[in-house]
Amino acid sequence: MITETISCDGIPTPISRIGLGTWAIGGAMWGGADVVESIKTIQHAVDVGINLIDTAPVYGFGHSEETVGKALADGGRRDKTVLATKVALEWVDGQVRRNSSPKRIRQEIEDSLRRLRTDRIDIYQVHWPDTSVRIEETAEALLGLLHEGKVLALGVSNFSTQQMDAWRRVAPLHTTQPPYNIFEREIEPDILPYALKHKLIVLSYGAICRGLLSGKMSHGRKFEGDDLRLKDPKFQKPRFSQYLSAADLLAEHAQANYGKSLLAFAVRWILDRGETMTALWGARNAAQLDQVADAFGWKLSPEDYAAVDDILRKTIQDPVGPEFMAPPVG
Ligand SMILES: NC(=O)c1ccc[n+]([C@@H]2O[C@H](COP(=O)([O-])OP(=O)(O)OC[C@H]3O[C@@H](n4cnc5c(N)ncnc54)[C@H](OP(=O)(O)O)[C@@H]3O)[C@@H](O)[C@H]2O)c1
Repeated sequence: MITETISCDGIPTPISRIGLGTWAIGGAMWGGADVVESIKTIQHAVDVGINLIDTAPVYGFGHSEETVGKALADGGRRDKTVLATKVALEWVDGQVRRNSSPKRIRQEIEDSLRRLRTDRIDIYQVHWPDTSVRIEETAEALLGLLHEGKVLALGVSNFSTQQMDAWRRVAPLHTTQPPYNIFEREIEPDILPYALKHKLIVLSYGAICRGLLSGKMSHGRKFEGDDLRLKDPKFQKPRFSQYLSAADLLAEHAQANYGKSLLAFAVRWILDRGETMTALWGARNAAQLDQVADAFGWKLSPEDYAAVDDILRKTIQDPVGPEFMAPPVG
């Protein structure tokens, strides 16, 4: 069970420090998804105490939100959940574009409420900054939704510190959702300290680096159809071998020092960065959540952080970030 939670202004339920990520459950860019399996995964997550569920309209072009809505409608699970979705990406013929205009936001909130079968979104996040619209204008539009009670807390994703400053001049900011995991640490110089200083809840995305930190990834793993890992630069030779070597050494460290798996260690590594940290864990079936409880009840030491850095230095000659996921600007 989940034993660590965080309180968020405006949200009555404390938030579990592990959240279920439902991008893969949308199917698109992940080689498809099985709806029955996806529903079971979401329900299992809530039943083991993961109350934070993160989705987005663009995940499977509505499919992830619809699946989350179906799963939570059953068994009174909606009221046990802190439902986080996003706004401000649109798609035409499968092509995704940023659009944070107030008009688009007004349309999207209604679509999301319908798909999610709910009367409120607990955390409403701007998915990617859209430089063609003033941030203040977008923030004001979300502030309107907050005042109307359609959303309970406001968040941003993939925003810089300057963009978060601009937002906070006109509206409260409760959460921020950047990429963050042992292998993707671009936020450490600025966004992470900013978030911790301003007590923003951090929804760290890609917590297990799309499976690289699961302890199950191997050279022989095949990806099907439109799975983004066919293009993800970390999964291409020769870099893939470097990341797998790092994962092996990290797994040895976790086992030798704590008797824990790499997956539990990778999640703990995020949580111990600060009190407001949470980790979004993408799962496609209930069994992939078996190790959730292993991430709680222990803590990493400064020596562990140094050991991780040492392992990365020794193994990854050609590091690369998560930039390949960014949708086109404009
Ligand atoms: N705001 C943004 O721009 C943004 C961007 C990306 C993600 N996100 C959010 O963050 C969430 C998490 O990120 P993510 O889903 O991209 O990646 P992730 O959580 O790092 O990795 C998810 C993948 O890891 C594998 N996995 C998970 N548990 C496993 C286990 N126990 N054993 C073996 N493999 C396991 C599964 O892949 P396989 O089963 O296919 O191997 C799963 O699809 C997303 O779902 C989404 O909610 C947000």
